[in-house]
Amino acid sequence: MRTRRPFVGGNWKMNGDLAGGVELAETVSAGSREAVMAIDMVVFPAFPYLQSVGRALGHSGVALGAQDLSAEANGAFTGEVSAEMLLDLGVQWVLVGHSERRHVIGEREELVADKLRMALDSGLRAVLCVGETRAERLAGDAHEVVARQLRSALSSVDREEWDRLVIAYEPVWAIGTGVSATPADAREAHREIRSTLASLYDAELSETARVVYGGSLSPGNVTTIVAEPGVDGGLVGGASLRADDFLAIASAIARAA
Ligand code: 13P
Repeated sequence: MRTRRPFVGGNWKMNGDLAGGVELAETVSAGSREAVMAIDMVVFPAFPYLQSVGRALGHSGVALGAQDLSAEANGAFTGEVSAEMLLDLGVQWVLVGHSERRHVIGEREELVADKLRMALDSGLRAVLCVGETRAERLAGDAHEVVARQLRSALSSVDREEWDRLVIAYEPVWAIGTGVSATPADAREAHREIRSTLASLYDAELSETARVVYGGSLSPGNVTTIVAEPGVDGGLVGGASLRADDFLAIASAIARAA
């Protein structure tokens, strides 16, 4: 059975400026020589900085990712950015269905599914983000909500495409709050995700799929969370804006591998 290569992503969101992004990318590149041998490392700057950050990453092995893409190929879609445009800039990865796009911007599940289809059809690698809100969790609906998000987004994804797909479990209540899921919460959620994948595909796919955790990950909590079986790394927000913290998280994930 294929072993799962760990993954760490730094989602910079709408933060920083051009000079700061380039400096962050240079520092992360310089400090990640060992980690990139063992894990996939990706940074996700905002659209306007992709090209410069990509240049700063150079041949370090840290890949360039975008935070979103259009579900459309091209045409009259003011403000949107297509998969082809991203590929033109050297982008290899894209986030799809991040909770801020679902819950703040209002993206519906159908649009998330279309974006994932567009990403994979274009040859991009995708991180599909799923996760429940606090209200959904308190109502006891967390597993069902995540299963529904997976069923909807994955309905047209073939098993051959899974080598270009990572699932990020990001409980909305843990994002940007400083309160991460407990290791036990993460283990349970990841087990449920793999059980949904087993029902959508089969047992082998559920074992080989990469599933990572996101939500207030830090150098202080990453080791216990990625020690849980079934947790293959992390998607990092706030801590990825500080090179030292992001590199410490990447090293901890590489050590756990
Ligand atoms: P924080 O690490 O800031 O909680 O953000 C997580 C996230 O949304 C990554 O995509």
